[in-house]
Amino acid sequence: MKNYYITTPIYYCNDLPHLGHAYTNIACDILARYHRLDNKNVYFLTGTDEHGQKVEQSAKSKNTSTKELTDRMSKNFLDLTKILNCTNNDFIRTTEERHKISVHKLWNILLKNDQIYLDKYKGWYSIRDEAFFDEKELKKINSEYYAPTGAKVEWIEEESYFFRLSNWTDKLIEFYNKNPDFVAPDTRFNEVKSFVKSGLKDLSISRTTFNWGIPVPNNNNHVIYVWLDALQNYLSALEFPDTDSKLYKDFWPGTHIVGKDILRFHSIYWPAFLMAANLPPPLRIYAHGWFTNEGNKISKSLGNVIDPFQIINEFGLDEFRYFLFSQVPFGDDGDFSIKALVNRINNDLSNDYGNLVQRVCSFIYNNCNGEIEIIDNLINEDEDLLENSNNIFKFYKECMDKDQIDKAIKFIFKLISLANIYVNNQEPWKLKKTNPNRMKNVLSILIEIIKRIAIMTLPIMPNKSQKLLLYLNFDFQNINFDNYKVIFKNQIKIEKPYPLFPKYEK
Ligand code: MSP
Repeated sequence: MKNYYITTPIYYCNDLPHLGHAYTNIACDILARYHRLDNKNVYFLTGTDEHGQKVEQSAKSKNTSTKELTDRMSKNFLDLTKILNCTNNDFIRTTEERHKISVHKLWNILLKNDQIYLDKYKGWYSIRDEAFFDEKELKKINSEYYAPTGAKVEWIEEESYFFRLSNWTDKLIEFYNKNPDFVAPDTRFNEVKSFVKSGLKDLSISRTTFNWGIPVPNNNNHVIYVWLDALQNYLSALEFPDTDSKLYKDFWPGTHIVGKDILRFHSIYWPAFLMAANLPPPLRIYAHGWFTNEGNKISKSLGNVIDPFQIINEFGLDEFRYFLFSQVPFGDDGDFSIKALVNRINNDLSNDYGNLVQRVCSFIYNNCNGEIEIIDNLINEDEDLLENSNNIFKFYKECMDKDQIDKAIKFIFKLISLANIYVNNQEPWKLKKTNPNRMKNVLSILIEIIKRIAIMTLPIMPNKSQKLLLYLNFDFQNINFDNYKVIFKNQIKIEKPYPLFPKYEK
């Protein structure tokens, strides 16, 4: 069995979860579920990033302790994974002892390998991004400097340990050339490569002006830079430093899904740290885009932060999951709007998918006593539909294997549309009088196609797809992609159908 390790970024504990956090969680959950159905041994990790100046400042501004704030916020992120029906195998917190041990071990290996030295950092720092910036990357507005993310930067001068990142420029380029799929989409990979080609400077990896972090081993005046700390979570959860552990052996290296804003950390710093510690770099980094809200940049100061709990409450979880990944090509920026969400629910889900299921199942319930016969005597049109569903499944898998969730969804809807056309052409309501046996066969083929559609929608809309499979008497608990092409072989009886995706009307 092949292994597949997938991770979300770990979320800062300075504030409540928002749409962006829900987005990466769902993306990873879709891919984790997909690969499980594809008979892989999957490990899916998420968690919270709890150290650093940003979290410390947030605790101060909220008049609370860092411990109280991170415990409370981390619980919110854990709750989010549950509300989203995520199938994560673990939830890591960077304040856990297992993580501290793992970060210390990485630090000590880097030190032993002569990758770390002590000096002084003089330069710009953005607390919001927890990132150091070169002056040439900044924008000056009045007398203040701003990072490309729009965050204000401040000048800092302090003793700091440095990582010899500059030594890794050529090795990173060589690694990128050998691994053309390391970063996706390609446009983002090109940005990364040109940044590295322009030359890398050594990276400050410790801070001395606050202490909310993991102390540098044997020097309590320094805390480890929050990104070196945070990135290591991906290994801590696999029981590093025990590189003989089953988890580590089975699952490292893995795939990281990240937002475009944190690609530099994952595609440059992280593989460099790992190579410098003689550890394998990650397999793949997929960078997704950012959502705006009704056309506007999402920000706390604009007061337009989207609360995923609220949206799910009003529109439903699977509807929300479907919307996010059908509306915007995965990798691109996109817009969240209620109108677009309602359109997707009422058109794609209710009119196309829901209506196919409803019209077929109601007909069987009303005209065949709810009984679905075993398929026999295929005619050309039946063979064509089954053949098309096989080809569509192949394309769907090709897309999902490349993390192109939106393209995979388009193929599912292609099959839904072909099935609806087949109903219109075969006209079972006429066959009822003229050829009842043929009618039964048409309906059975449609049930087989609906089963196939439901198998493909399982990763994206798990609740609705499981309910549908259960309603059709398919044992969804034990279903995987091997069942896709295996035509059902027993008579099925269905109960009165119910609308799978009710229209949203307000
Ligand atoms: N703690 C770091 C990640 C460390 S990983 C070792 C961090 N945390 S975060 O909470 O600020 O962001 C988490 C994710 O949310 C990022 O991938 C970011 O891209 C994503 N999003 C934040 N706002 C977003 C949108 N408006 N739209 C889509 N995703 C966005 O960064």
